[in-house]
Amino acid sequence: MKRIISPVATAALLVVTSMPSFAASPWIVENATAKEECSACHMAYPAGFLPERSWRAIMANLTDHFGEDASLGDAARTEITNYLVALAPKELRNVSSIAVPLRITELRWFRGEHGSRRVAQAQNDPRIGSISNCAACHRAAERGNFGD
Ligand code: HEC
Ligand code: HEC
Repeated sequence: MKRIISPVATAALLVVTSMPSFAASPWIVENATAKEECSACHMAYPAGFLPERSWRAIMANLTDHFGEDASLGDAARTEITNYLVALAPKELRNVSSIAVPLRITELRWFRGEHGSRRVAQAQNDPRIGSISNCAACHRAAERGNFGD
């Protein structure tokens, strides 16, 4: 049978498939306030990596944030909390439902995926500095791609 997909139809298809999805992704930080305020010291971490209660705990204690003062005004703090909580999972696999992990990098899957050698390597490489610096290795992390 003859193929009847014309160049015009193909172009139209491409437009449709490359249009941004309107459903918010838990893997890309799209909220402008979160994007700005949470990327001053490190990449803004996407909501999907931690359970809801973890984001609440982090956002409730920004004055003592991993040894830094990351405090925000009430409006920005509320907006970011609501944004993260709305996209975060209720539970994470292999995380007890009473645990409140504050770090992605201490989760079991993360340790398994990266291994202690890679963690040490990140720490000792001044261009990386810490395993928490995702974007140093995952160049497309800010687009939600951690596969390379
Ligand atoms: C003033 C600097 C600063 C700002 C602003 C900041 N952070 Fe952090 N954050 C840090 C530091 C320092 C660490 C620890 C990084 C490390 O161990 O290498 C950290 C770590 C984290 C971690 C744990 C990363 C891991 O190891 O898994 C999360 C989650 C996090 N921050 C979320 C946020 C959120 C959400 C915001 C915005 C509300 C924010 N941060 C804004 C400094 C900051
Ligand atoms: C020192 C470099 C480095 C840093 C920093 C790093 N990663 Fe990775 N990550 C890797 C490598 C390499 C792999 C692939 C592991 C393998 O397949 O052997 C990987 C795998 C992953 C995977 C699995 C991807 C897949 O498709 O299976 C995810 C998700 C991930 N990393 C997320 C993160 C997040 C989130 C951070 C920051 C909190 C981070 N990584 C920090 C190097 C790094």
